Amino acid sequence: MGDVGKVIVFDDKAGLVSFVTRKWQGICAESLDKRGCMTAALSGGNTPVDIYRAFAQCDLPWENIRIFQVDERFVPKDGRDSNYRMIRETLLDPLSMPKENIHVVDTSKPSPDDAAKAYEQELAGFFRLQPGEFPRFDIIMLGLGEDGHTASLFPGSPLPDDTNHLAQAVMLDSERHDRITLTVQVINHARHIIFLIQGAHKALALKKVVEEKDTTLPAARINPVDGELLFVAYSEAADLLTENTYTRGEP
Ligand code: 6PG
Repeated sequence: MGDVGKVIVFDDKAGLVSFVTRKWQGICAESLDKRGCMTAALSGGNTPVDIYRAFAQCDLPWENIRIFQVDERFVPKDGRDSNYRMIRETLLDPLSMPKENIHVVDTSKPSPDDAAKAYEQELAGFFRLQPGEFPRFDIIMLGLGEDGHTASLFPGSPLPDDTNHLAQAVMLDSERHDRITLTVQVINHARHIIFLIQGAHKALALKKVVEEKDTTLPAARINPVDGELLFVAYSEAADLLTENTYTRGEP
């Protein structure tokens, strides 16, 4: 299933975007060949914007690709801070993706907990899960927060230890919004997990995750059961890494 914990660093945006896009295309080909469908869970935030726009330019059998969310802020789906809005604008709308191929967190539910429960039912139904089973996404795209969070799994939260849920509500604050997130268990069952990291302010978190394995940081709890784990970073985010921790991406 590929590398676990490999770090690839790029000096230029074009090189990084091209690499990640080729990974997406390769995983799509592998998934369709083996299963006739690719399931992908996408994170929000700013880093993936250019990546998702590049994905939308790919000539792929999008009718066989299912898009899910890694996490969502509990805001209206057309809100400024909505992850769905960003994914829709960068990927789904340009592709005119059929609604039946899109599985999002329903933030119109009365509460984050209701939204999390509804998303769990959506996952269980689509992946035809028996109780105790976890969905196995073909690819999950993750970001890294300066504090070491990923998805909406934040330091100090008991969630990373949760083995009984597929999705959970995360009560935060008005600035970060309450959230709904996939659990670590679900993420770790993916076939391919790709972290995208940009910004010098992420350098310490990246070092703690990939070198120090500091599991107080939720991102360090990401470790595929049987899959590939890649960290794809812009050079400024890798500034604190020791030379032998990473390889330089091909331009
Ligand atoms: C979110 C994301 C979150 C994100 C990181 C990095 O809802 O914000 O899912 O986990 O990936 O915070 O965000 P940036 O890419 O904006 O730095």
